[in-house]
Amino acid sequence: MTNRNLENKNILLAVSGSIAAYKAVDVASQLIKQGANVNVAMTEAATKFITPFTFKTLTGNVPFLDMWDINTPSKERHIELAHSADLMIIAPATASTIASLAYGIADDSVSLCALSTEAPRLIAPAMDHQMWNNSATQTNINKLKARGDIIIGPDYGRLASGDFGLGRLSSTEEIVSETKARAGKMYGDLAGKHIVITAGGTREPMDPVRFLGNRSSGKMGYAVAEAARDRGSDVTLISSVSRPLIKGVNIINAETTAEMFQKVQEATKNADALIMAAAVSDFRFKDINKNKIKNKDNDMDVSLTPNPDIIASIKGDIIKIAFAAEINDMEKFALQKLKSKKVDFIIANDVSNPAIGFNSDNNKVVIFSNTGDQINLPLMPKIDVGHEILNSLKKRF
Ligand code: PMT
Repeated sequence: MTNRNLENKNILLAVSGSIAAYKAVDVASQLIKQGANVNVAMTEAATKFITPFTFKTLTGNVPFLDMWDINTPSKERHIELAHSADLMIIAPATASTIASLAYGIADDSVSLCALSTEAPRLIAPAMDHQMWNNSATQTNINKLKARGDIIIGPDYGRLASGDFGLGRLSSTEEIVSETKARAGKMYGDLAGKHIVITAGGTREPMDPVRFLGNRSSGKMGYAVAEAARDRGSDVTLISSVSRPLIKGVNIINAETTAEMFQKVQEATKNADALIMAAAVSDFRFKDINKNKIKNKDNDMDVSLTPNPDIIASIKGDIIKIAFAAEINDMEKFALQKLKSKKVDFIIANDVSNPAIGFNSDNNKVVIFSNTGDQINLPLMPKIDVGHEILNSLKKRF
């Protein structure tokens, strides 16, 4: 893996007493997979739902439970944990933990650490919907937000009470994704850069129900966007497809080439780079039928007209990266596009191979630059391809 922005980061995971406490185990596990060193603080109530031993086994660190424990390995464990933390996550955060945080009360292991740390705090509430909607909780949450804490969720769904409402702990993916977004802003090598990325295949309508399209799933563009987010950039993702949202990425929908053209023009006005992973339709229908075209027994002729070239139309002080989707003579066609579109880099990929092209999780690309450099990359996950592209881009900043 080329870049893991939580690698070697100290994360203090604070767990308070909710039935959702068991989900904190998964959060710890995913953070460790991202290379983080995880320390856990648990309230006494949390230990009723999940054992400290689970966290010790998983993280390799003894959880901090009791500020009065005579056998504690250090004198002031909460100070040590609070000071060494790069980020603190409180998940699940109960209504009473949130109240303690809002009022600066430090009477258990979680609130002690929270009050002592200068690290950014990410708070993922979990409680019954009445408790969440109570004005006391809402006032406390607003206080925490105003002080700069990041509140993740809660989600809507079935609660432990059997009721449906807002109060479910956000998913592990969401908590980890928000953590990575925050870490990117703090430590990312592309922090302060605005990168516009496109994803998916554009759709050219023929009538209200039919369109001319292609097989692009958007996975490549979304992977580049996630990599750029992890490295701290401000990311605008212009996408023709619906995929799971990426925390911290500004996603703008554009279905047709004309829409994508307009959205890219607007978004690149203050951007440092444009990366076009979208499979843009070179043609659109000359005439779009207002009504659904009826079934007939005879042949039908349709007229297509060329679409504008989006990336070629973007001028000014911006680094431009195009993709070349080829099925034969990849190098020859990619180099032609590099020149004709006047881009800084072109990322060539063979879309005839189902293992690496449309809709696959992996890709195998060649990066050609306008200065004559060529990087042949091996097969790798699309997120890693994204990081490799950003490595090349970074050298131009
Ligand atoms: O989305 P996935 O399923 O993950 O698949 C990824 C992918 C195969 C779509 C991706 O890796 C890829 O190759 N994207 C570019 C597809 C494409 O349109 O290639 P092209 O060779 O036709 O176009 C060259 C470049 O010009 C592209 O960057 C394209 O976005 C851009 N272009 C094309 C036409 C047009 N009118 N305007 C453009 O800006």
